[in-house]
Amino acid sequence: MDNVYEKLMTCLASVRQKTDFVPEVALILGSGLGNYAEHIKTECMIEYTEIEGFPVSTVAGHKGRYVFGYIGDVPVVAMQGRVHYYEGYPMTDVVLPTRLMGLMGAKKLILTNAAGGVNLSYKAGDFMLITDHITTGVPSPLIGQNIEELGVRFPDMSEVYSLRMKSVIKEQADKLGIKLQEGVYAQLTGPAYETPAEIRMIRIWGADAVGMSTACEALAARHMGMEICGISCITNMAAGVTNEKLSHKEVQETADRVAKDFESLVTEIIKNI
Ligand code: HPA
Repeated sequence: MDNVYEKLMTCLASVRQKTDFVPEVALILGSGLGNYAEHIKTECMIEYTEIEGFPVSTVAGHKGRYVFGYIGDVPVVAMQGRVHYYEGYPMTDVVLPTRLMGLMGAKKLILTNAAGGVNLSYKAGDFMLITDHITTGVPSPLIGQNIEELGVRFPDMSEVYSLRMKSVIKEQADKLGIKLQEGVYAQLTGPAYETPAEIRMIRIWGADAVGMSTACEALAARHMGMEICGISCITNMAAGVTNEKLSHKEVQETADRVAKDFESLVTEIIKNI
């Protein structure tokens, strides 16, 4: 058996020793958005450090745990804190937590992140519904021996972000009076923010937002057949768009400023997805 799969099985067994909770929806909470977990009627929490073989995040502002419980009647598992490629983990470790939620039983995945606005019509504080992604800037988590138990060697990626979920999200955002941009998310490695030239490059590629996560997780989740949607919080305009310098502080401040709207949107998405 492939050792990536073995490690997943070890982690799954470790989770199953602590809870038999079967989530329907998996949720990954991005930078500054981790407080959403407080909305979950919690049944159980597992710190990442308690899971044998689990990669543990090192970024300030990222808690590291799974929260199991309910939003309305919907059983969910939320990742409060994710692992990033720039932390030095191999891509297979970066997507392990996502795959693990799929193996726990979650059929649907909601991805969130903080992202830089590449599309010049965006403003800091906007939300962007992810319609597609560009992973060209990072290695594929599917490189290496294919894990047949999860999915096929050459998976189709023509609809990574579910059109069905997209229409549910737009309807819920409308009801809440929350404006949603729609666009393509490009993942680069970080941890440095991009240069203005890199931002011009990915704008030409067709990206509307840029970040250091999400697309690899979506790719791995799609490989195993999960239905996926994603929302970016545009926390800043990307490098070179304005004269301002980029900082993690600004990213967190913007995410905090719009957290209430984000939280109501995610709740309605979960209840209606
Ligand atoms: N670039 C990359 N990642 C980010 C950014 C950005 O401008 N803002 C928040 N995450």
